Amino acid sequence: LDELLTFTTALARTAGELILEGSQAIQQASASDIGEKKNSVDLVTEYDVKVEELVKREIAAAYPTFQFIGEESYSAGSRPPLTDAPTFCVDPIDGTTNFVHAFPFACISIGLIDQRRPVLGVIYNPFLDHLYSGVAGHGSSLSRAGGAPQTLPLAPARPLPSLSQALVAVEWGSDRTAPAVTKKAESFTRLAGDPARGIARGRMAHSLRSIGSAALNFAMVAQGGLDTYWEIGCWPWDVCAGIVIAQEAGGFVTGGKDAPHDGDVTEGILTGRKYLVIRAIADTEGETGLEAQKRIAREWYDTVE
Ligand code: IPD
Ligand code: CA
Ligand code: CA
Ligand code: CA
Repeated sequence: LDELLTFTTALARTAGELILEGSQAIQQASASDIGEKKNSVDLVTEYDVKVEELVKREIAAAYPTFQFIGEESYSAGSRPPLTDAPTFCVDPIDGTTNFVHAFPFACISIGLIDQRRPVLGVIYNPFLDHLYSGVAGHGSSLSRAGGAPQTLPLAPARPLPSLSQALVAVEWGSDRTAPAVTKKAESFTRLAGDPARGIARGRMAHSLRSIGSAALNFAMVAQGGLDTYWEIGCWPWDVCAGIVIAQEAGGFVTGGKDAPHDGDVTEGILTGRKYLVIRAIADTEGETGLEAQKRIAREWYDTVE
């Protein structure tokens, strides 16, 4: 995997250059240059497509037998089923909304799946020059501009006995149908301190954050800056690289299915520092990812103290 990591890291940096170039161009572009997918908040630009084409081309040249799953190819109808074969799973720009608004939290996310398990991940935010990488069984690290790679997490996690001491990332996502927005608003409110249940010490998380990039939420959990990240409805390319990086940093990940990267992810994903979720996951054996996740959510919401 060493050679693959070197290749993927270099590729992510090359893609990062194109993202930066694109960012300049998009700030000059007119509103009509910003495309919409399923609704007016599901944005796409020519750079999402260009970056994916670049990455796909380089992968095909270097690893012609590997499969490729990417967000924009998928949108264009190229939807290969996940097999046991090595498969690159790529989000060319994760955080397109941030990219469009020049909010400097957007990245390229390149994951590698083998035997249906994510085994390698690289996430690169070119705006901050932060490169996160992880290899199954070999840990994860963060390289920042001009510095040597640092092992993740950057500091040992302080024990967190409950959600009430946690900094929690959630996202609005692009599903803005009435039931989806209602569900998210309710769960976010509960996390922040639910008036209907009486706001008491210990019944609210320290605060909520929305970075606007699933991959960077994973990276931030791996780094130790976020205690947990929870979102309903991620796609494989949003989470594939992040899963490896967060797990290798000692984090816990559960998806809606046991394989949260099987090309058909519409269920929630949850990742967090081990200390926070360790009690709740102690007996996950025999449960599917979704069952475990629902139970964790129930426990968090009902017995936060
Ligand atoms: C989205 C971002 C966002 C998350 C969505 C993703 P995109 O990806 O990661 O933070 O809430 O679920 O789809 O469209 O910017 O690649
Ligand atoms: Ca998108
Ligand atoms: Ca994404
Ligand atoms: Ca994307």
